[in-house]
Amino acid sequence: MTTLQATFCGQTYDNPFMNASGVHCMTTAELDELANSAAGSFVTKSATADSREGNPEPRYINLALGSINSMGLPNLGLAYYLADAIKRQTETPDVPFIMSVASYKGFDEYVDNMRQIQDSDYTGLVELNLSCPNVPGKPQMAYDFEDTARLLIEIFSFYTKPFGVKLPPYFDIQHFDKIAAVLNQFDLKFVNCINSIGNGLYIDEATDTVVIKPKGGFGGIGGEYVKPTALANVRALKQRLNPSIEIIGTGGILTGRDAYEHLLCGASMLQVGTQLQKEGPAVFDRLNAELRHILETKGYTSIAEFKGKLATLD
Ligand SMILES: Cc1cc2nc3c(=O)[nH]c(=O)nc-3n(C[C@H](O)[C@H](O)[C@H](O)COP(=O)(O)O)c2cc1C
Repeated sequence: MTTLQATFCGQTYDNPFMNASGVHCMTTAELDELANSAAGSFVTKSATADSREGNPEPRYINLALGSINSMGLPNLGLAYYLADAIKRQTETPDVPFIMSVASYKGFDEYVDNMRQIQDSDYTGLVELNLSCPNVPGKPQMAYDFEDTARLLIEIFSFYTKPFGVKLPPYFDIQHFDKIAAVLNQFDLKFVNCINSIGNGLYIDEATDTVVIKPKGGFGGIGGEYVKPTALANVRALKQRLNPSIEIIGTGGILTGRDAYEHLLCGASMLQVGTQLQKEGPAVFDRLNAELRHILETKGYTSIAEFKGKLATLD
C-alpha cells in the first residue's frame, strides 16, 4: 500500500501538500476551504500587527509560466488570525496548521507580534516571514544576516513555542553558507524555502507596459519560473542546516513531478502558491494523485524511501 503520509515537527499529515502563505488564506472562510480540501495542512496569510489594505490594483497577474505580484501584505491583522487559530486549535485539534506572521514596519513589529503570540493561548506552529519582497521602501529582513541574527536572538529571549522562518531565495553559495550559519545557532523547528523571487519585471507584449501597478511594475515572481531556484535553496539548506531543522519546499510546484523533486531535495512539506491561485483548492486532489502515481511507478511505498536522496554525478 502506497502512502503519502508526511511527518513534520512531530506530527503526521495525510500528505505533504499545503497552500503557500498569501494564496487562498486571507479569511476564515478561505482557511476552512483549505481545511476541507485534500491538502495535508495549511498556512494563514502573513499577519502584520494591524490590518492592511495592501498596494493598489492590479497587483497580481497570472503569467504563462507563473505569476507576478506586489500585494503589499494585505491582511486582516494579527488579532484576527490569532483568534481564528485559537478557535481552530480548540475545536479541531486534530487538524494542525501554521500561522504566518510578518512585519511591515521592521524589527520591532516582528518582536511585538511574536510577543503577542507568546502571551496568547495559541500553541501551534508559527512561520515567521523574513522575506516579504513587496513592501515599498522596506528591505527583506533575511537578506541582512546580522539583523536576522539579532532578531532571532531577541525573539528566542522570550518565545518558547515552536516556530520556523520563511526565507527569500539565495543565489550565491556564500549566502547559503551565511544564512545557514545564522539559523543553526537557534532551536528553529523548520525553514521554508522559498518566498517569491523578488522584484522581477514583466512587460506586456501588446502594449509595451508593465502589468502590475505598484512599484513601477516590479513584483515577486512565482510559479514555473522559480522551480530551479527553489530546488537549489531546499537542497542547499538541507545540506547545511542542523538535521533537527526541517524544510518546507515552496516554489514552482505545478505537478506531482515538481513535488517529487522538492522531496528528493529534502523537503518534508510542500507549499503551493501560484498554481493554487490559478486552479483553486482542487489542485490538491490532482497533486496527490500525480505524486502517488510517481511513487507507485517507481516502486516506493512511502516518501521516507526517497526523501533527500537526490543523486549527483560524482
Ligand atoms: C498573491 C501572492 C501573495 C503572497 N503572499 C505571501 C505572504 O503573505 N507571505 C509569504 O510568506 N509569502 C507570500 N507569497 C509567496 C508564496 O507563499 C510563495 O512563497 C511563492 O509564491 C512561491 O511559490 P509558488 O511558485 O508556488 O507561487 C505570496 C505569493 C503570491 C502569489
